Amino acid sequence: MRLITKLLIVAALCSTLTVFGSTSDADKAIYKRVDALMKKMTLQEKIGQLQQLTGRKSEITGPAGEKMNTAEFIRRGLCGSMLGVKTAKDVAYYQNIALNESRLGIPILFGYDIIHGCRIIFPENLGISSSWDIAAIEKSAQIAAREAASMGIAWTFSPMCDISTEPRWGRVSEGSGEDPYLGAKIAEAMVRGYQGDDLSDPNTILACVKHFAAYGAPQAGRDYHTVDMSRRMFRDRYLPPYRAAIKAGAATIMTSFNDFEGVPATGNKWLMRDLLRDELGFTGFIVTDWGATDEMRNHGVAANGKEAAKLAFDAHVNMNMVDADYIKYGEELVKEKQVSVKTIDLLCREVLAMKFRLGLFDEPHRYGGDRYKSETYLPENLEVARDVARKSMVLLENHNATLPLKGSERIALIGPFANNRKEMSGAWIGFCEHNRSTTYLEGLQARFGKDNVVCVEGCKPFSAIEGGIAEAVAAAQNADVVLLTMGLPNSCSGEATSLTSIEVPQAQRDLLDALDNTGKPIVVLLVTGRPMDVGYEVERADALLVTWHAGTMAGPALADVVSGDFNPAGRLTMTFPLNIGQVPIHYNMKRTGRPRRSLEHTQKYTSRYMFTPNEPRYAFGYGLSYTTFDYSDLRVLTPEVAMGESVRVSVKVRNSGKCDGTEVVQLYLRDDVASTTRPMRELKGFERVELRAGEERRIEFEITPEDMSFWTINEEFAQEPGSFHVWVGHDSNATLGGEFAVRK
Ligand code: NOJ
Repeated sequence: MRLITKLLIVAALCSTLTVFGSTSDADKAIYKRVDALMKKMTLQEKIGQLQQLTGRKSEITGPAGEKMNTAEFIRRGLCGSMLGVKTAKDVAYYQNIALNESRLGIPILFGYDIIHGCRIIFPENLGISSSWDIAAIEKSAQIAAREAASMGIAWTFSPMCDISTEPRWGRVSEGSGEDPYLGAKIAEAMVRGYQGDDLSDPNTILACVKHFAAYGAPQAGRDYHTVDMSRRMFRDRYLPPYRAAIKAGAATIMTSFNDFEGVPATGNKWLMRDLLRDELGFTGFIVTDWGATDEMRNHGVAANGKEAAKLAFDAHVNMNMVDADYIKYGEELVKEKQVSVKTIDLLCREVLAMKFRLGLFDEPHRYGGDRYKSETYLPENLEVARDVARKSMVLLENHNATLPLKGSERIALIGPFANNRKEMSGAWIGFCEHNRSTTYLEGLQARFGKDNVVCVEGCKPFSAIEGGIAEAVAAAQNADVVLLTMGLPNSCSGEATSLTSIEVPQAQRDLLDALDNTGKPIVVLLVTGRPMDVGYEVERADALLVTWHAGTMAGPALADVVSGDFNPAGRLTMTFPLNIGQVPIHYNMKRTGRPRRSLEHTQKYTSRYMFTPNEPRYAFGYGLSYTTFDYSDLRVLTPEVAMGESVRVSVKVRNSGKCDGTEVVQLYLRDDVASTTRPMRELKGFERVELRAGEERRIEFEITPEDMSFWTINEEFAQEPGSFHVWVGHDSNATLGGEFAVRK
């Protein structure tokens, strides 16, 4: 491979936007102030800056064995950061203790999980990703940052960049799905949204890329479980979103709970130093996940908290979340020369520098105060949340054009999520005020008239309600159409929510059966934070719309979609399997030596199931619209290129239906022969294209050398010569394709 090509690719991957780093004049001035401050600090005060404590009232055993609460730690200079402080008043309370009652008055950095909105809740992240609308996603992060800043929070533990192919794992709701390319675009957009281009702006906050690394691949989909994969798989499939977020200038990184190659991430020198710092050029600071240092005892790589602290110090993990191993054992480890003063200085320096960049030393109360009164729930931001929510919804079935509704129907809105404010929000909603959420009932009544929509709960998510089915059936009989909300509650999304069944609970299926017997058309509204096995529902429903947990503006967003005021354009970012036995299943699987070439191919000794197809129910990238789109005339404009050159491909897309709509045009690539096994196809480009009814447009894509590169047999991220296939179309099953060759 030509040296110049390699250099270009490496430069593209490693160069951060240097939002941070010690090169700019502003940063030089900051480090001068940091160094001056550090001269005044005792060793224990420096270690204190590396400690993050919770705002909960829980008591923690202090360094000398005595019971102390967080305020006491702060007074002693043993708390650099806090998480979970929920009100601007409490933020000010703790900040004042740090400023006025600790020896050096170093301000506290307040963090929180602002994952999909702060006061205004956006759809859960898997939902947001289904919009494929990068600008809207960036905007949602920007709004969340502004609201969080107004509540006193200067640091969010987001974006979650964990690629996952595991619908059993409840945390898929927090990520952007299974695809590294799309995941990378979303990760960098969220970092831009949170941080803007200036951290000293009081409306921007620090992003935290998590969970480094590979947390999305727990064995058997069970949360916190071990992760074991090849480095090659990690680099090709899991690393890209983390890398993109770092390249976009993410200020902080969170270690993951899992082990990687047999070493827990929090003590993993290869991950934290060799890869993150040396190779990817990360210049911010690293925080552990909650208690992850001390958990290294449970992993069985540390006999006690002191050994655990040493492992994390050695991995150059800057900040310890919640367990007290750093402040308990740090000084002792230094005195025993197990950890050097130099290491402590290095770790402390980055934490302090970040506080300076945020302006906390000059204006410690710039986040919080009364700001939230005028900076949350801004009407224009609620409109953005509505827009993101409707763009996130994915229409999976629509027989006989059941949707959009004609407007004159009497609607029976049924199911456990129909008029349930709390269930609109999903997981991680620390600042959410449920009374501000709009329900589906409210949205539909506002759009179709109060008298035209009746609502019956019918059942609870997991259990029947006495008389619930009868009441629902009566409502359905008096209506022209049934909108049935089904799925999983908030409590099945997010951390510690692994499942071994991804079917809709039986109580809801019983309700569906009864409604099906009425013969009325049924639209299933699937409320979920993960892909589900919806075979049972699909057999009985006329239409199926995945609404996710849609957030504060769920009601109007749903009304926009079912009325046709907004033509659905969401596309799945995670495969929906036929059943749980296919999991993990994803479109970009590796090839096999014994491929099953077609559905009819029943030869025994091929890679297939005996009684189930290999194909999922709904593929990555899939989603319907109220119109149709045709693809034609794909042209590879550069059928032969040299290494280091880009390839251009164009295709005609036509809105062939009767209404205006948006198509997510997707480009997939396959490297035909390479030095290592490669996926069947990989997403390498997409564009949301708005087309009026009948309109046709030619869309052009550029496939860069980076898009064609991978972790080769020579252990380098590089391009190889040879032939490639390219397809452009509606989803990952796109068939309209062409070929090109890359010369040596
Ligand atoms: C544990 C979770 O894994 C992580 O995502 C979160 O940011 C921290 N707790 C802090 O709440």
